[in-house]
Amino acid sequence: MKGLILSGGKGTRLRPITYTSAKQLVPVANKPILYYAIECIRNAGIHEIGIIVGDTQEEIRSAVGDGSMWGVNVTYIPQSAPLGLAHAVMTAEEYLGDDSFVMYLGDNIVKDGITPLVKDFSKHTPNAQILLAHVRNPQEFGVAELDGDRIVHLVEKPSEPKTDLALVGVYMFDKRIFEAVHAITPSARGEYEITDAIQYLIDHGYEVKSHVIDGWWKDTGKLDDMLEANRIILDTLSYRMDGIADASSILNGKVDIGKGSRILRSEVRGPVIIGENCVIEDAYIGPFTSIHDDVRILHSEIEHSIVLSHSSIINIEQRISDSLIGRNVEVRKEERRPHVYRFMLGDNSQVSIS
Ligand code: TTP
Repeated sequence: MKGLILSGGKGTRLRPITYTSAKQLVPVANKPILYYAIECIRNAGIHEIGIIVGDTQEEIRSAVGDGSMWGVNVTYIPQSAPLGLAHAVMTAEEYLGDDSFVMYLGDNIVKDGITPLVKDFSKHTPNAQILLAHVRNPQEFGVAELDGDRIVHLVEKPSEPKTDLALVGVYMFDKRIFEAVHAITPSARGEYEITDAIQYLIDHGYEVKSHVIDGWWKDTGKLDDMLEANRIILDTLSYRMDGIADASSILNGKVDIGKGSRILRSEVRGPVIIGENCVIEDAYIGPFTSIHDDVRILHSEIEHSIVLSHSSIINIEQRISDSLIGRNVEVRKEERRPHVYRFMLGDNSQVSIS
């Protein structure tokens, strides 16, 4: 069995971050989202992993390498254009050959892993088996209708959903999926949809089973979902102090501070992770915040946010919350007059002041 991780795509919902880097490499609790996918597949006993890559392939290749960090063998499969999940399967046809495979969307995190799904599929060998989860807002997902544990119908974002079972972003397939992806045509939004390919399997009498998970999962393709994933993963942290905190600083709860980081006259209230070589001075770092390496936070307060490496937040009087701050960003209040807002923001940036 092989693994196929989809790490191409357009990433329009996470602009401007995705103009310069792959959304699958945004760190959640200071670890790239893509690493969670690789670990999940490896932990299910699969060691041959193909990664679909697009415009951001150089960055992904240098972050993942040959997979030896995880004891797996990684093959990169460039996709000509982000033409849909079923197109990604077509692109990987030669790599996958006659093997069954698990397809995993590279921006998803499934907290409890996929081992039970892979075992279930290996035992019963249906043509496809789709990971599903109960959700409160099925209108926003691809939704499955079941007969027992067989899937009989898939509907994309139904206005009147018949079930609350959403597709999670992890799929098991045997080689019949290639017949399906070649048979379908692009949808109204111009993409080869994996739901159409699965519906083709159902309509042609192939066995498509479900596997429902109870645990938490998240598609991190939007800012709010990424912050929510960060919140839940940070909650699983344990205390680690490899940096330095002065006597007047207060560290509360689950706090993980990396080598070379200095906390001076500040309060850090966990769960919080702070990477290496950061300076936190006269600051407050509140719960559910991930701060990557070489970040400076001076005379400022921040909570429920992700700050990527080499950024600075200086003299900001109002607490920053619910934010994703990219690399090499500077947010600073100047003392000089006139007191004005001065911005240099990339396309599709968002600034919210209240
Ligand atoms: P999506 O999040 O559905 O699509 P996207 O990445 O283009 O993002 P947006 O909707 O914000 O523009 O993709 C799910 C995962 O699959 C993600 O990791 C990117 C990957 N993907 C591919 O590898 N190839 C593709 O053709 C598409 C559409 C997605």
